[in-house]
This record gives sequence, C-alpha cells and structure tokens, in this order.
Amino acid sequence: MPQLAMRGGTPVRTAKFFQWPHYDESELRNAEEVIRSRRWFSGMRGADKGTKTEEFERRFADYHECDFGIACANGTVALEIALRAAGVGAGDEVIVPAVTFIATLSAVLQVNAIPIVVDTQYSDHCISPKAVEAAITDRTKAIIPVHFGGFSCNMDRLMSLAKQHKFVVIEDAAHAHGAVYKGRKIGALGHMATFSFQESKTMTAGEGGIVTCNDPGFAERCIMFRSCGRKEDESWYVHYDLAVNYRLAEIQSAILLAQLDRLDDQLKTKNENAAFLNDLLSGVSGIEPVPGDGSTDRNGYYLYLLRYFKGEFSGVSRNRFVEALNAEGIPSHIGYPWPLTKNPMFQEIEDGAKGCPYTCPYYGKEVSVKDAAVPVSEKICEETVVIPHQVLLSPPKELEDIVKAIRKIQQSAAELL
Ligand SMILES: Cc1ncc(COP(=O)(O)O)c(C=O)c1O
Repeated sequence: MPQLAMRGGTPVRTAKFFQWPHYDESELRNAEEVIRSRRWFSGMRGADKGTKTEEFERRFADYHECDFGIACANGTVALEIALRAAGVGAGDEVIVPAVTFIATLSAVLQVNAIPIVVDTQYSDHCISPKAVEAAITDRTKAIIPVHFGGFSCNMDRLMSLAKQHKFVVIEDAAHAHGAVYKGRKIGALGHMATFSFQESKTMTAGEGGIVTCNDPGFAERCIMFRSCGRKEDESWYVHYDLAVNYRLAEIQSAILLAQLDRLDDQLKTKNENAAFLNDLLSGVSGIEPVPGDGSTDRNGYYLYLLRYFKGEFSGVSRNRFVEALNAEGIPSHIGYPWPLTKNPMFQEIEDGAKGCPYTCPYYGKEVSVKDAAVPVSEKICEETVVIPHQVLLSPPKELEDIVKAIRKIQQSAAELL
C-alpha cells in the first residue's frame, strides 16, 4: 500500500492546480488605463458618469438580467446597504440561514435589526423554506437567502412567502455570480441581491461588492447609502441620511470589467468539470458530491461541496481527512466550522451586554440567537469537505488526482487514527 503523504510518503500531486486570482493582459491593460488617466475616484455618488464603475455596474447588471447595479466596497456592506435601502431597522426581524459567512448575519446587527437564524436544507445547504415559514412573525421585515456554494435557493417558494407576508428578499449571492435558477439568472429574483468580489470569489478585484435590483426606488436608496447619504444633483456636503463612504475605487472596477468578460467561459468549464468529477466520485464510497435539489440550471461553483462519511474511512475524522487530502496535494478545507449561532459573539456574551442588537428596547422581548435549533446545519458543518472553485478550472486529467488521493487515503485510513 502506498504510504500517505502525512506519514512521509510521496504526495499524489506536487504540481499546482489552476491558480487564483487569475488575470491576463486585460486586467493589466485596464488597470494601467485608470492609473494613467488619473481618474482613480468613482465620484461623489460612487459611479459618476463616464467612470469605470458606472460601466461595470451597467455590464454586471445586464449580465444578471437586472436593471440596476450599485457597486460598493465589499459584500458585507452590500448587505448592509440593501437592508438600509429596504428600510430595515431597530427591532425588525430578519431571517437568515445558520450556515453562511458571518456577514449575512452581522449586516443585520449593523442596522440594529434582530437576526432570526433558521435551518438549512441538506440537499444544497441553502435556507430551508419550511424553516423560514415557521419563523415568520409580524415583525419579519426581510429574509436573506444565501445561494450556497453556487446552488440557487428555492426562490419560487421564498418569493411566494414574501408576497404573502409582505417582507423583502435580499439574495446573498456572494457565492453565486452567474448562477441560473429555473432558466433565470440569480440577482433579481429577489427584491435585491448582493455579491462579493473579495479575492477568493469567482470574480475579484481583491475586495469589492455590488447590490443588484430592478426597483428604481431601492436603487436610488442604495446609491445614497453607498455614498454618505448624498442625492443626485446635490452638492458634496448635503446629506439626507446616516450613511458613510462605501464606494469602490476605479481601479477595482477596471479589474472587475476584465474578470466579468471571463465569467461565462469559466462557469461553463467549472460546470463541465464538476459533472466529470461527480461521475468519477460515484465509484468511491464514503464521499459524495452535494447533489442540489434540481432547480439550479447552472451552478455558480464558488465551492465544490462534498459530504464525507467517516465510517467508510476507518472512523477517521473529517478534519483529519482534510489534513490528509491537503498533504496529498489537493487543496481543500472544511468550510464553515459550525452554525453561526455557535460563535463566541453569541455564546459568550458578557454579563450585562446591553443595547441594540443584544437587547433592543424596540423589540420588546429577549433577543436570543444562541439557542436556535438548527440540526441539519449542524450535520452539514460536521460532514462537509470543500474544494475551492479554481480547482475546477484545471484540465479534467488533473482532476483525476483528487479521486486518486481520496482512494489512497481510504486504503490507509487506519494509519491516521
Ligand atoms: C455568503 C457570504 N456573504 C457575504 C460575504 C461578505 O463578502 P465580503 O468578504 O466581500 O465582505 C461573504 C464573504 O465571504 C460570503 O461568503
């Protein structure tokens, strides 16, 4: 039996997979153009006429089949801007999934609203519409479904609940640029959507974010909250609401224009390669690709998600398996280590913590995030193995190494105990 790399053996792979972030002459050319132009600032309201940011917003919105794009500093503040634009504030409830990056929840706290954390569904790690329905109250002002890893949430069901109960749906699409749900691009399926361009994302300028929507009223409010509370045709020093500077810089937009040109081709390759890898893995026991619920026509593939069953690996823990996989030259990680509710910010609130959002006089009852029951999310966090998206941009032949490494670890798993 070949020796595991963790035990001093030769790794399955020493060559690197496709490297991220990816760039070519177009990023360099676009960035140089901005630098030479000396127009580095996107303007008073964040995307003034003739700027790269204005061009990027228009092209990104067109690509996602929606009317407006409001570019901003990152995906976290994109969520905050969208919540403020929707009028969410102190004492309002916002339903969020338990498995996601902290930003989905912290943006709610930033506007002094109350996050109601609900369970996700096993099939695709997206928010469970059933759990959403059970959590709706007369204080529910918004929900933030996360298109997890690139799978689209059950938007038909969520939008019908929104219509019935009159709340706003803000899609957190940080994982899902270009994803397609039942023939329609995500991005304007809800009332607003937000994206991140942080370095690990499938389009990046190092940092960056955008809100997309179809409603001109929401768009106008997003622009105001993106840039110091300013309104059109007013001066630099006239402010209509409490808002700070969340603008994107021109050089970031210039880079994002080049990244957007490549997105379609990269998504095609990733979807083809994921199908190829799914097929190869169907012959391996104890590892299975997260299947989705069948409604995602094109996955955004920010994460290639696997379920790991330790019983088929001599009882080796998921974390140890991931260490072994990395040692064999396969980049991988465990994803979100626990449901958001388990974070110290909720579990270890100091005695006497007071003020919105921990205790909210507008809410009129106790705020408790830490006790939310989210059993499916717990299971997901225990089982998941993530392969980052850029690996799927490597030639199929190289992806065979992933399967080789998993089989090798499985054969010698007992050595890892
Ligand atoms: C689901 C989700 N939402 C929001 C964000 C926040 O994006 P940013 O890092 O650009 O603030 C992230 C970032 O990883 C994310 O994964």
